[in-house]
Amino acid sequence: YSEIKKLFRTPDEYIGKTITVPGWVKTVRDSKTFGFIELNDGTFFRNLQIVFEEGKLENFKEVAKLSVGSSIEVEGILVETPNAKQPFELKANRISIENLCPADYQLQKKRHSFEFLRTISHLRPRTNTFSAVFRVRSLAAFAIHKFFQERGFVYVHTPLITGSDCEGAGQMFRVTTLDMKNPPRTENGDIDYSQDFFEKETSLTVSGQLTGEAYAMAFKNIYTFGPTFRAENSNTARHAAEFWMIEPEIAFSDLKDDMMLAEDMLKYVINYVVENAPEEMQFFNSFVDKGLLERLDNVVNSDFAHITYTEAIEILKKNKDKFEYPVEWGADLQTEHERYITEQVYKKPVFVTDYPKEIKAFYMRINDDNKTVAAMDLLVPGVGEIIGGSQREERLDILEKKMDDMGLSKEDYQWYLDLRKYGGTKHAGFGLGFERAIMYLTGITNIRDVIPFARTTGSCEF
Ligand code: 4AD
Ligand code: MG
Repeated sequence: YSEIKKLFRTPDEYIGKTITVPGWVKTVRDSKTFGFIELNDGTFFRNLQIVFEEGKLENFKEVAKLSVGSSIEVEGILVETPNAKQPFELKANRISIENLCPADYQLQKKRHSFEFLRTISHLRPRTNTFSAVFRVRSLAAFAIHKFFQERGFVYVHTPLITGSDCEGAGQMFRVTTLDMKNPPRTENGDIDYSQDFFEKETSLTVSGQLTGEAYAMAFKNIYTFGPTFRAENSNTARHAAEFWMIEPEIAFSDLKDDMMLAEDMLKYVINYVVENAPEEMQFFNSFVDKGLLERLDNVVNSDFAHITYTEAIEILKKNKDKFEYPVEWGADLQTEHERYITEQVYKKPVFVTDYPKEIKAFYMRINDDNKTVAAMDLLVPGVGEIIGGSQREERLDILEKKMDDMGLSKEDYQWYLDLRKYGGTKHAGFGLGFERAIMYLTGITNIRDVIPFARTTGSCEF
């Protein structure tokens, strides 16, 4: 078998030769004695044009009646077509029909809305848009591994089932084998998790960071790349219950190093995808988000902006009439605020740093002002926050006090405190939401359209 991608990339190896290509029918046009099929075999964004003639095919009549979505195998000679839209076509001398796709197939040749296509997530990767999205997703994942591996980072597989709540936001999915209709109870009526599978309460992880830190204290530079889970009750276009996160952790490094790493990584991934998926990126640029390529080009060729949370609040206060939510020092930035900063003020990626300690997680390093922490969020136009990171509190006494203040059990986190006690060092890290990165790369505006089978509030189909 020959692959369509190879035909397009190195046509000289195939022109004039007899080849066999299996694939799926995208369109069929026929007149009485000949016809054309647009064939896609999944290896490439573009289709191969097949020409078939009555005199040459035993089964001309069946082929002329082929339906969209049918799977076939074509044998023929590849010939150049210098005056046509496509550089070559395959003149068929045999077409075998493997599956004749019935007429109730939902993906007929017309435009379908993203909403409709979500209801057929098992079929949508066959459309142009989703073929482009999921090839870009695959390439971006590879680019991220390539970026970190080239820099000597060790890839760590952190656990998905956990007993700790990294972000402390209480948005965890329980993992239990207890019969929750009739759970065992302790004397005071609480559910008795000591009888559960792990003999304690456990959940799906919201982040691999804490266990990632343990490995950074051994390997210096590590990263994780895996699924994370959040039971956030936010039915938005940017939140999924199951999403993938990339979390590097770097020892002997501070917040500045962390931001440099994030900026380098994002630029690297953009470059890689633009270079390795030119057809797909051109498609997004033309049909999904006009100006995407120019914008990404600017991102790669300029420095990201930096602003403190306090400065951001000042800017937002001056424009407070524009917002639904109030702007107050101490309150978390809402999506509308984040988007204003990055889309209206800077028109490029912006690091917002030094957030109030009360609205950030327990592990973030307290700044000298004793009010803010060495945190950073990276905001980008069109999406908002795509990265959250921080320098970690490495000072054991301060961390212990903070955990006491926040009501966290030092017993449960003894292992985490050990990382400070034994050879603890300055260190930092961040989490990149992979789906949000794909939204940014493609211009797709709903998270449900960049993950193969989305899990969101109220929806877990397939
Ligand atoms: O800002 P977050 O909560 O940071 C952490 O989890 C840290 N432990 C990361 C670290 O420092 N190692 O989440 C990181 C990123 C967000 O910026 C966002 O892009 C993404 O994860 N994210 C989500 N993506 C999709 N759906 C959700 N519900 C998400 N929640 C967070
Ligand atoms: Mg965050």
